[in-house]
Amino acid sequence: MITIQELFVKGKSLLKDFPQPALEAKILLLKCCSIEAEEFLLSPERKLTRKEERDFYKLASKRLAGFPLAYLTGTKEFWSILFRVSPGVLVPRPETELVVEKVLELISLDEPVDLMNQIPTKNNTLGHETITRSKVPVSKSIAKNNTPALEAIARNNTLGHETITKHNAPTQETAAKNKAPVHETIVDIGTGCGNIAISLAKELPQVRIFATDNSRKALAVARLNSSLLEIDNITFAGGSLFSPLRRLKLEKKCSFIVSNPPYVSEKEWSELAEEIRNHEPKKALVAGETGLEIIEDLIKGSRRFIKPGGYLVFEIGQGQKRRVLSLFNSSWSGARCFSDLNGIPRVVVARRI
Ligand SMILES: C[S@@+](CC[C@H](N)C(=O)[O-])C[C@H]1O[C@@H](n2cnc3c(N)ncnc32)[C@H](O)[C@@H]1O
Repeated sequence: MITIQELFVKGKSLLKDFPQPALEAKILLLKCCSIEAEEFLLSPERKLTRKEERDFYKLASKRLAGFPLAYLTGTKEFWSILFRVSPGVLVPRPETELVVEKVLELISLDEPVDLMNQIPTKNNTLGHETITRSKVPVSKSIAKNNTPALEAIARNNTLGHETITKHNAPTQETAAKNKAPVHETIVDIGTGCGNIAISLAKELPQVRIFATDNSRKALAVARLNSSLLEIDNITFAGGSLFSPLRRLKLEKKCSFIVSNPPYVSEKEWSELAEEIRNHEPKKALVAGETGLEIIEDLIKGSRRFIKPGGYLVFEIGQGQKRRVLSLFNSSWSGARCFSDLNGIPRVVVARRI
């Protein structure tokens, strides 16, 4: 019988064409041999059963055939929380954590932010322009920039667990927890596996959160995550964009509408890595011919639901900043875009008058 260490060495060699073969092999080993990371480190000589060995090779060959790692393991880390994911539901990307971070910053502020001020100031929580914890640009964000190197990263960067570093500003979350008033209402449109809504729910247990999606599959996974993580302040609702909000009578009630909407154009989709096109749900990524169709509806429609002084916070794609900022009219006191760790303009924040 083979040991953990021996199978790990074989796995690394099998997966050698991925950028991080050791990490890939380790994650697959942990999954199919039901071992914890500690055991992997402390008992490399432990013998594996024939079934465990067979399962490992099955997973490795699926991985070699292009299956995203997160779908093989069934999990993905986001905001230091392990989420269940499954085919048909988008795998959360690290840069989306910036949406969570912005909401926590805004909710803990005493004064509203001057969003017309485009000049970043040092130590101004909203001024710094590069604050996500993402280390690697992921597939969705490189739709427009398909250099071979980036494409290789995108193709293989479904590792999630290991590529996200821990929060670098925990005090900020604590501040949000302490300061967020009880009556705040946050809506997450297009919740997917629930990553944004659940991360906010954990940070802000006193806030009422609604999470919506037009995909039944996504909502089922989001509900499962919410129950496994023992979240009790999220209401899930199905339907397209604002229809659940109308049903729930949330007109002028929302302090925040947040979203990571589909924003990839048809052309960009055709240029995305096969790992994404063959396995991830197109409807979760593609908005239409221009890529801006859903963002346009989001900006127009959210005016009715955000209360005066409330915020719209959403993710955009690379190269969309100027066009998206030009969509805001006089109903908004300003709109501003913040960049992720890779310097890519990523999250738009706008304040409702
Ligand atoms: C880019 S994914 C984001 C998922 C998750 N929030 C995240 O950050 O990973 C977009 C999500 O919006 C959902 N969606 C697409 N069109 C929608 C619509 N018209 N109304 C509501 N949800 C929609 C998709 O099913 C998908 O779950």
